[in-house]
Amino acid sequence: MIKSQPLTFPKNFVWGFAAAAPQIEGAAFLDGKGESVWDRFARRPGAVHNNDNLDVACEHYTRFDEDFRLMRSLGAKNYRLSLAWPRIYPDGDGALNQKGLDFYHRLFDSMEKHGLTPWVTMFHWDLPQSLETRFGGWRDRRTADAFAVYADTIVKAFGSRVKNWITLNEILCFTKLGYGVGRKAPGLQLADQVVNQTYHTALLCHGHGVRAVREHGGKGARVGLTDNATVTVPFSETPDDIAAARAQFIHENARVLDPIYTGGYGPAYRKAVGKHAAKFEKKDFDLISLPTDFLGLNIYTGEFVRAGKSGKPEKLPFPASYPTADAAWLKHVPQSLYWGPRHCAEIYGASSIYITENGAGYNDVPPAKGESNDLHRLNLVRSYLCELRRGIQDGVPVKGYFLWSFMDNYEWEDGYDRRFGVVYCDFKTQKRTPKFSARWFTKVMAENRIV
Ligand code: NOJ
Repeated sequence: MIKSQPLTFPKNFVWGFAAAAPQIEGAAFLDGKGESVWDRFARRPGAVHNNDNLDVACEHYTRFDEDFRLMRSLGAKNYRLSLAWPRIYPDGDGALNQKGLDFYHRLFDSMEKHGLTPWVTMFHWDLPQSLETRFGGWRDRRTADAFAVYADTIVKAFGSRVKNWITLNEILCFTKLGYGVGRKAPGLQLADQVVNQTYHTALLCHGHGVRAVREHGGKGARVGLTDNATVTVPFSETPDDIAAARAQFIHENARVLDPIYTGGYGPAYRKAVGKHAAKFEKKDFDLISLPTDFLGLNIYTGEFVRAGKSGKPEKLPFPASYPTADAAWLKHVPQSLYWGPRHCAEIYGASSIYITENGAGYNDVPPAKGESNDLHRLNLVRSYLCELRRGIQDGVPVKGYFLWSFMDNYEWEDGYDRRFGVVYCDFKTQKRTPKFSARWFTKVMAENRIV
């Protein structure tokens, strides 16, 4: 008999699910919640697949207790969620909405009851529309002033029960894709200088998030950013291609990671943006580069890079037949879960890394005979976890993994058909049905190994 070696993870490895307020809560205008830029954007005809909006979503606002019961029954002990800024400050600044804070107190009570540890993202894309209307949103540092107050408020309110804080989720998506490409809210296509300014405002907010946790977080509080670094994967794992992938990684990710880890925009980045650079004050970087406790990485895919002529990094295009999820951007690149964290550890010295998202977006069909067969998702996640484990064995300091997502939800401009959940959500009846991937992931978490 051949005995397989168990594909185990380190003791105390953190396993959990991830989700975000705007994608699951619904109740978009209830109990005093203000409009977010996504509430507005979703109403622009054609902006979102099927013109789906966030009004109802998974009705998590009223169903959270049963959701947490299910989550716990699947064996999760950690859950990454976000707080909705416009629920707490309907206009982004000014008057506080106590009902918003009360809601999250009830939600944390329920998590506690079900034995779930919260990992809380302060901002997951739902900017209060009022800040966009009055200041131009991320274009203006008054948005960072408002965020500073919001961050202080939530850390003071929840600091005794929340010990793991994530400042912002995926800066690229709410800056460049919102103000440059226009694919995400607020759906603008503005000049490069403006886009660079939105990045800078976001970095300031990250700094304020860290500051707020240091000032009000209490004992044991930890904080970090969640970045969606573009992961460069060497075409072959040979020294030349590895060096090329590493150089390309710096080139693609310096805009966010350099300021945070080195306290400024690096020379290569400054040269690349030239006259389109963001306006900033020198002291900004004292805030932006406040030391963090961990780096969160959302990794779904990667790009292949090889050493071209004279070692210059050369990106390789994906051929038409390359395996891809129904989300067209999600190319099946399991090695990204090896190389993403490794580059961050080697280049920036990140010594504690959490995979704050990984998963697969497919247009799953409704469950048949009470079961939801998503072998496609299960297999994708499994292949990625094998690469993650390889990294950990090589010494890459990854401490945890959060699967995106617990249940199907509002996939932004792709609406409700694009499903990332391991639990199927019937959006008409709100019935939840765990998919095969959930059943399998339950065993992974329970046994702390890839099964
Ligand atoms: C990144 C985002 O953080 C999340 O909101 C989104 O749904 C998933 N990736 C899947 O695209």
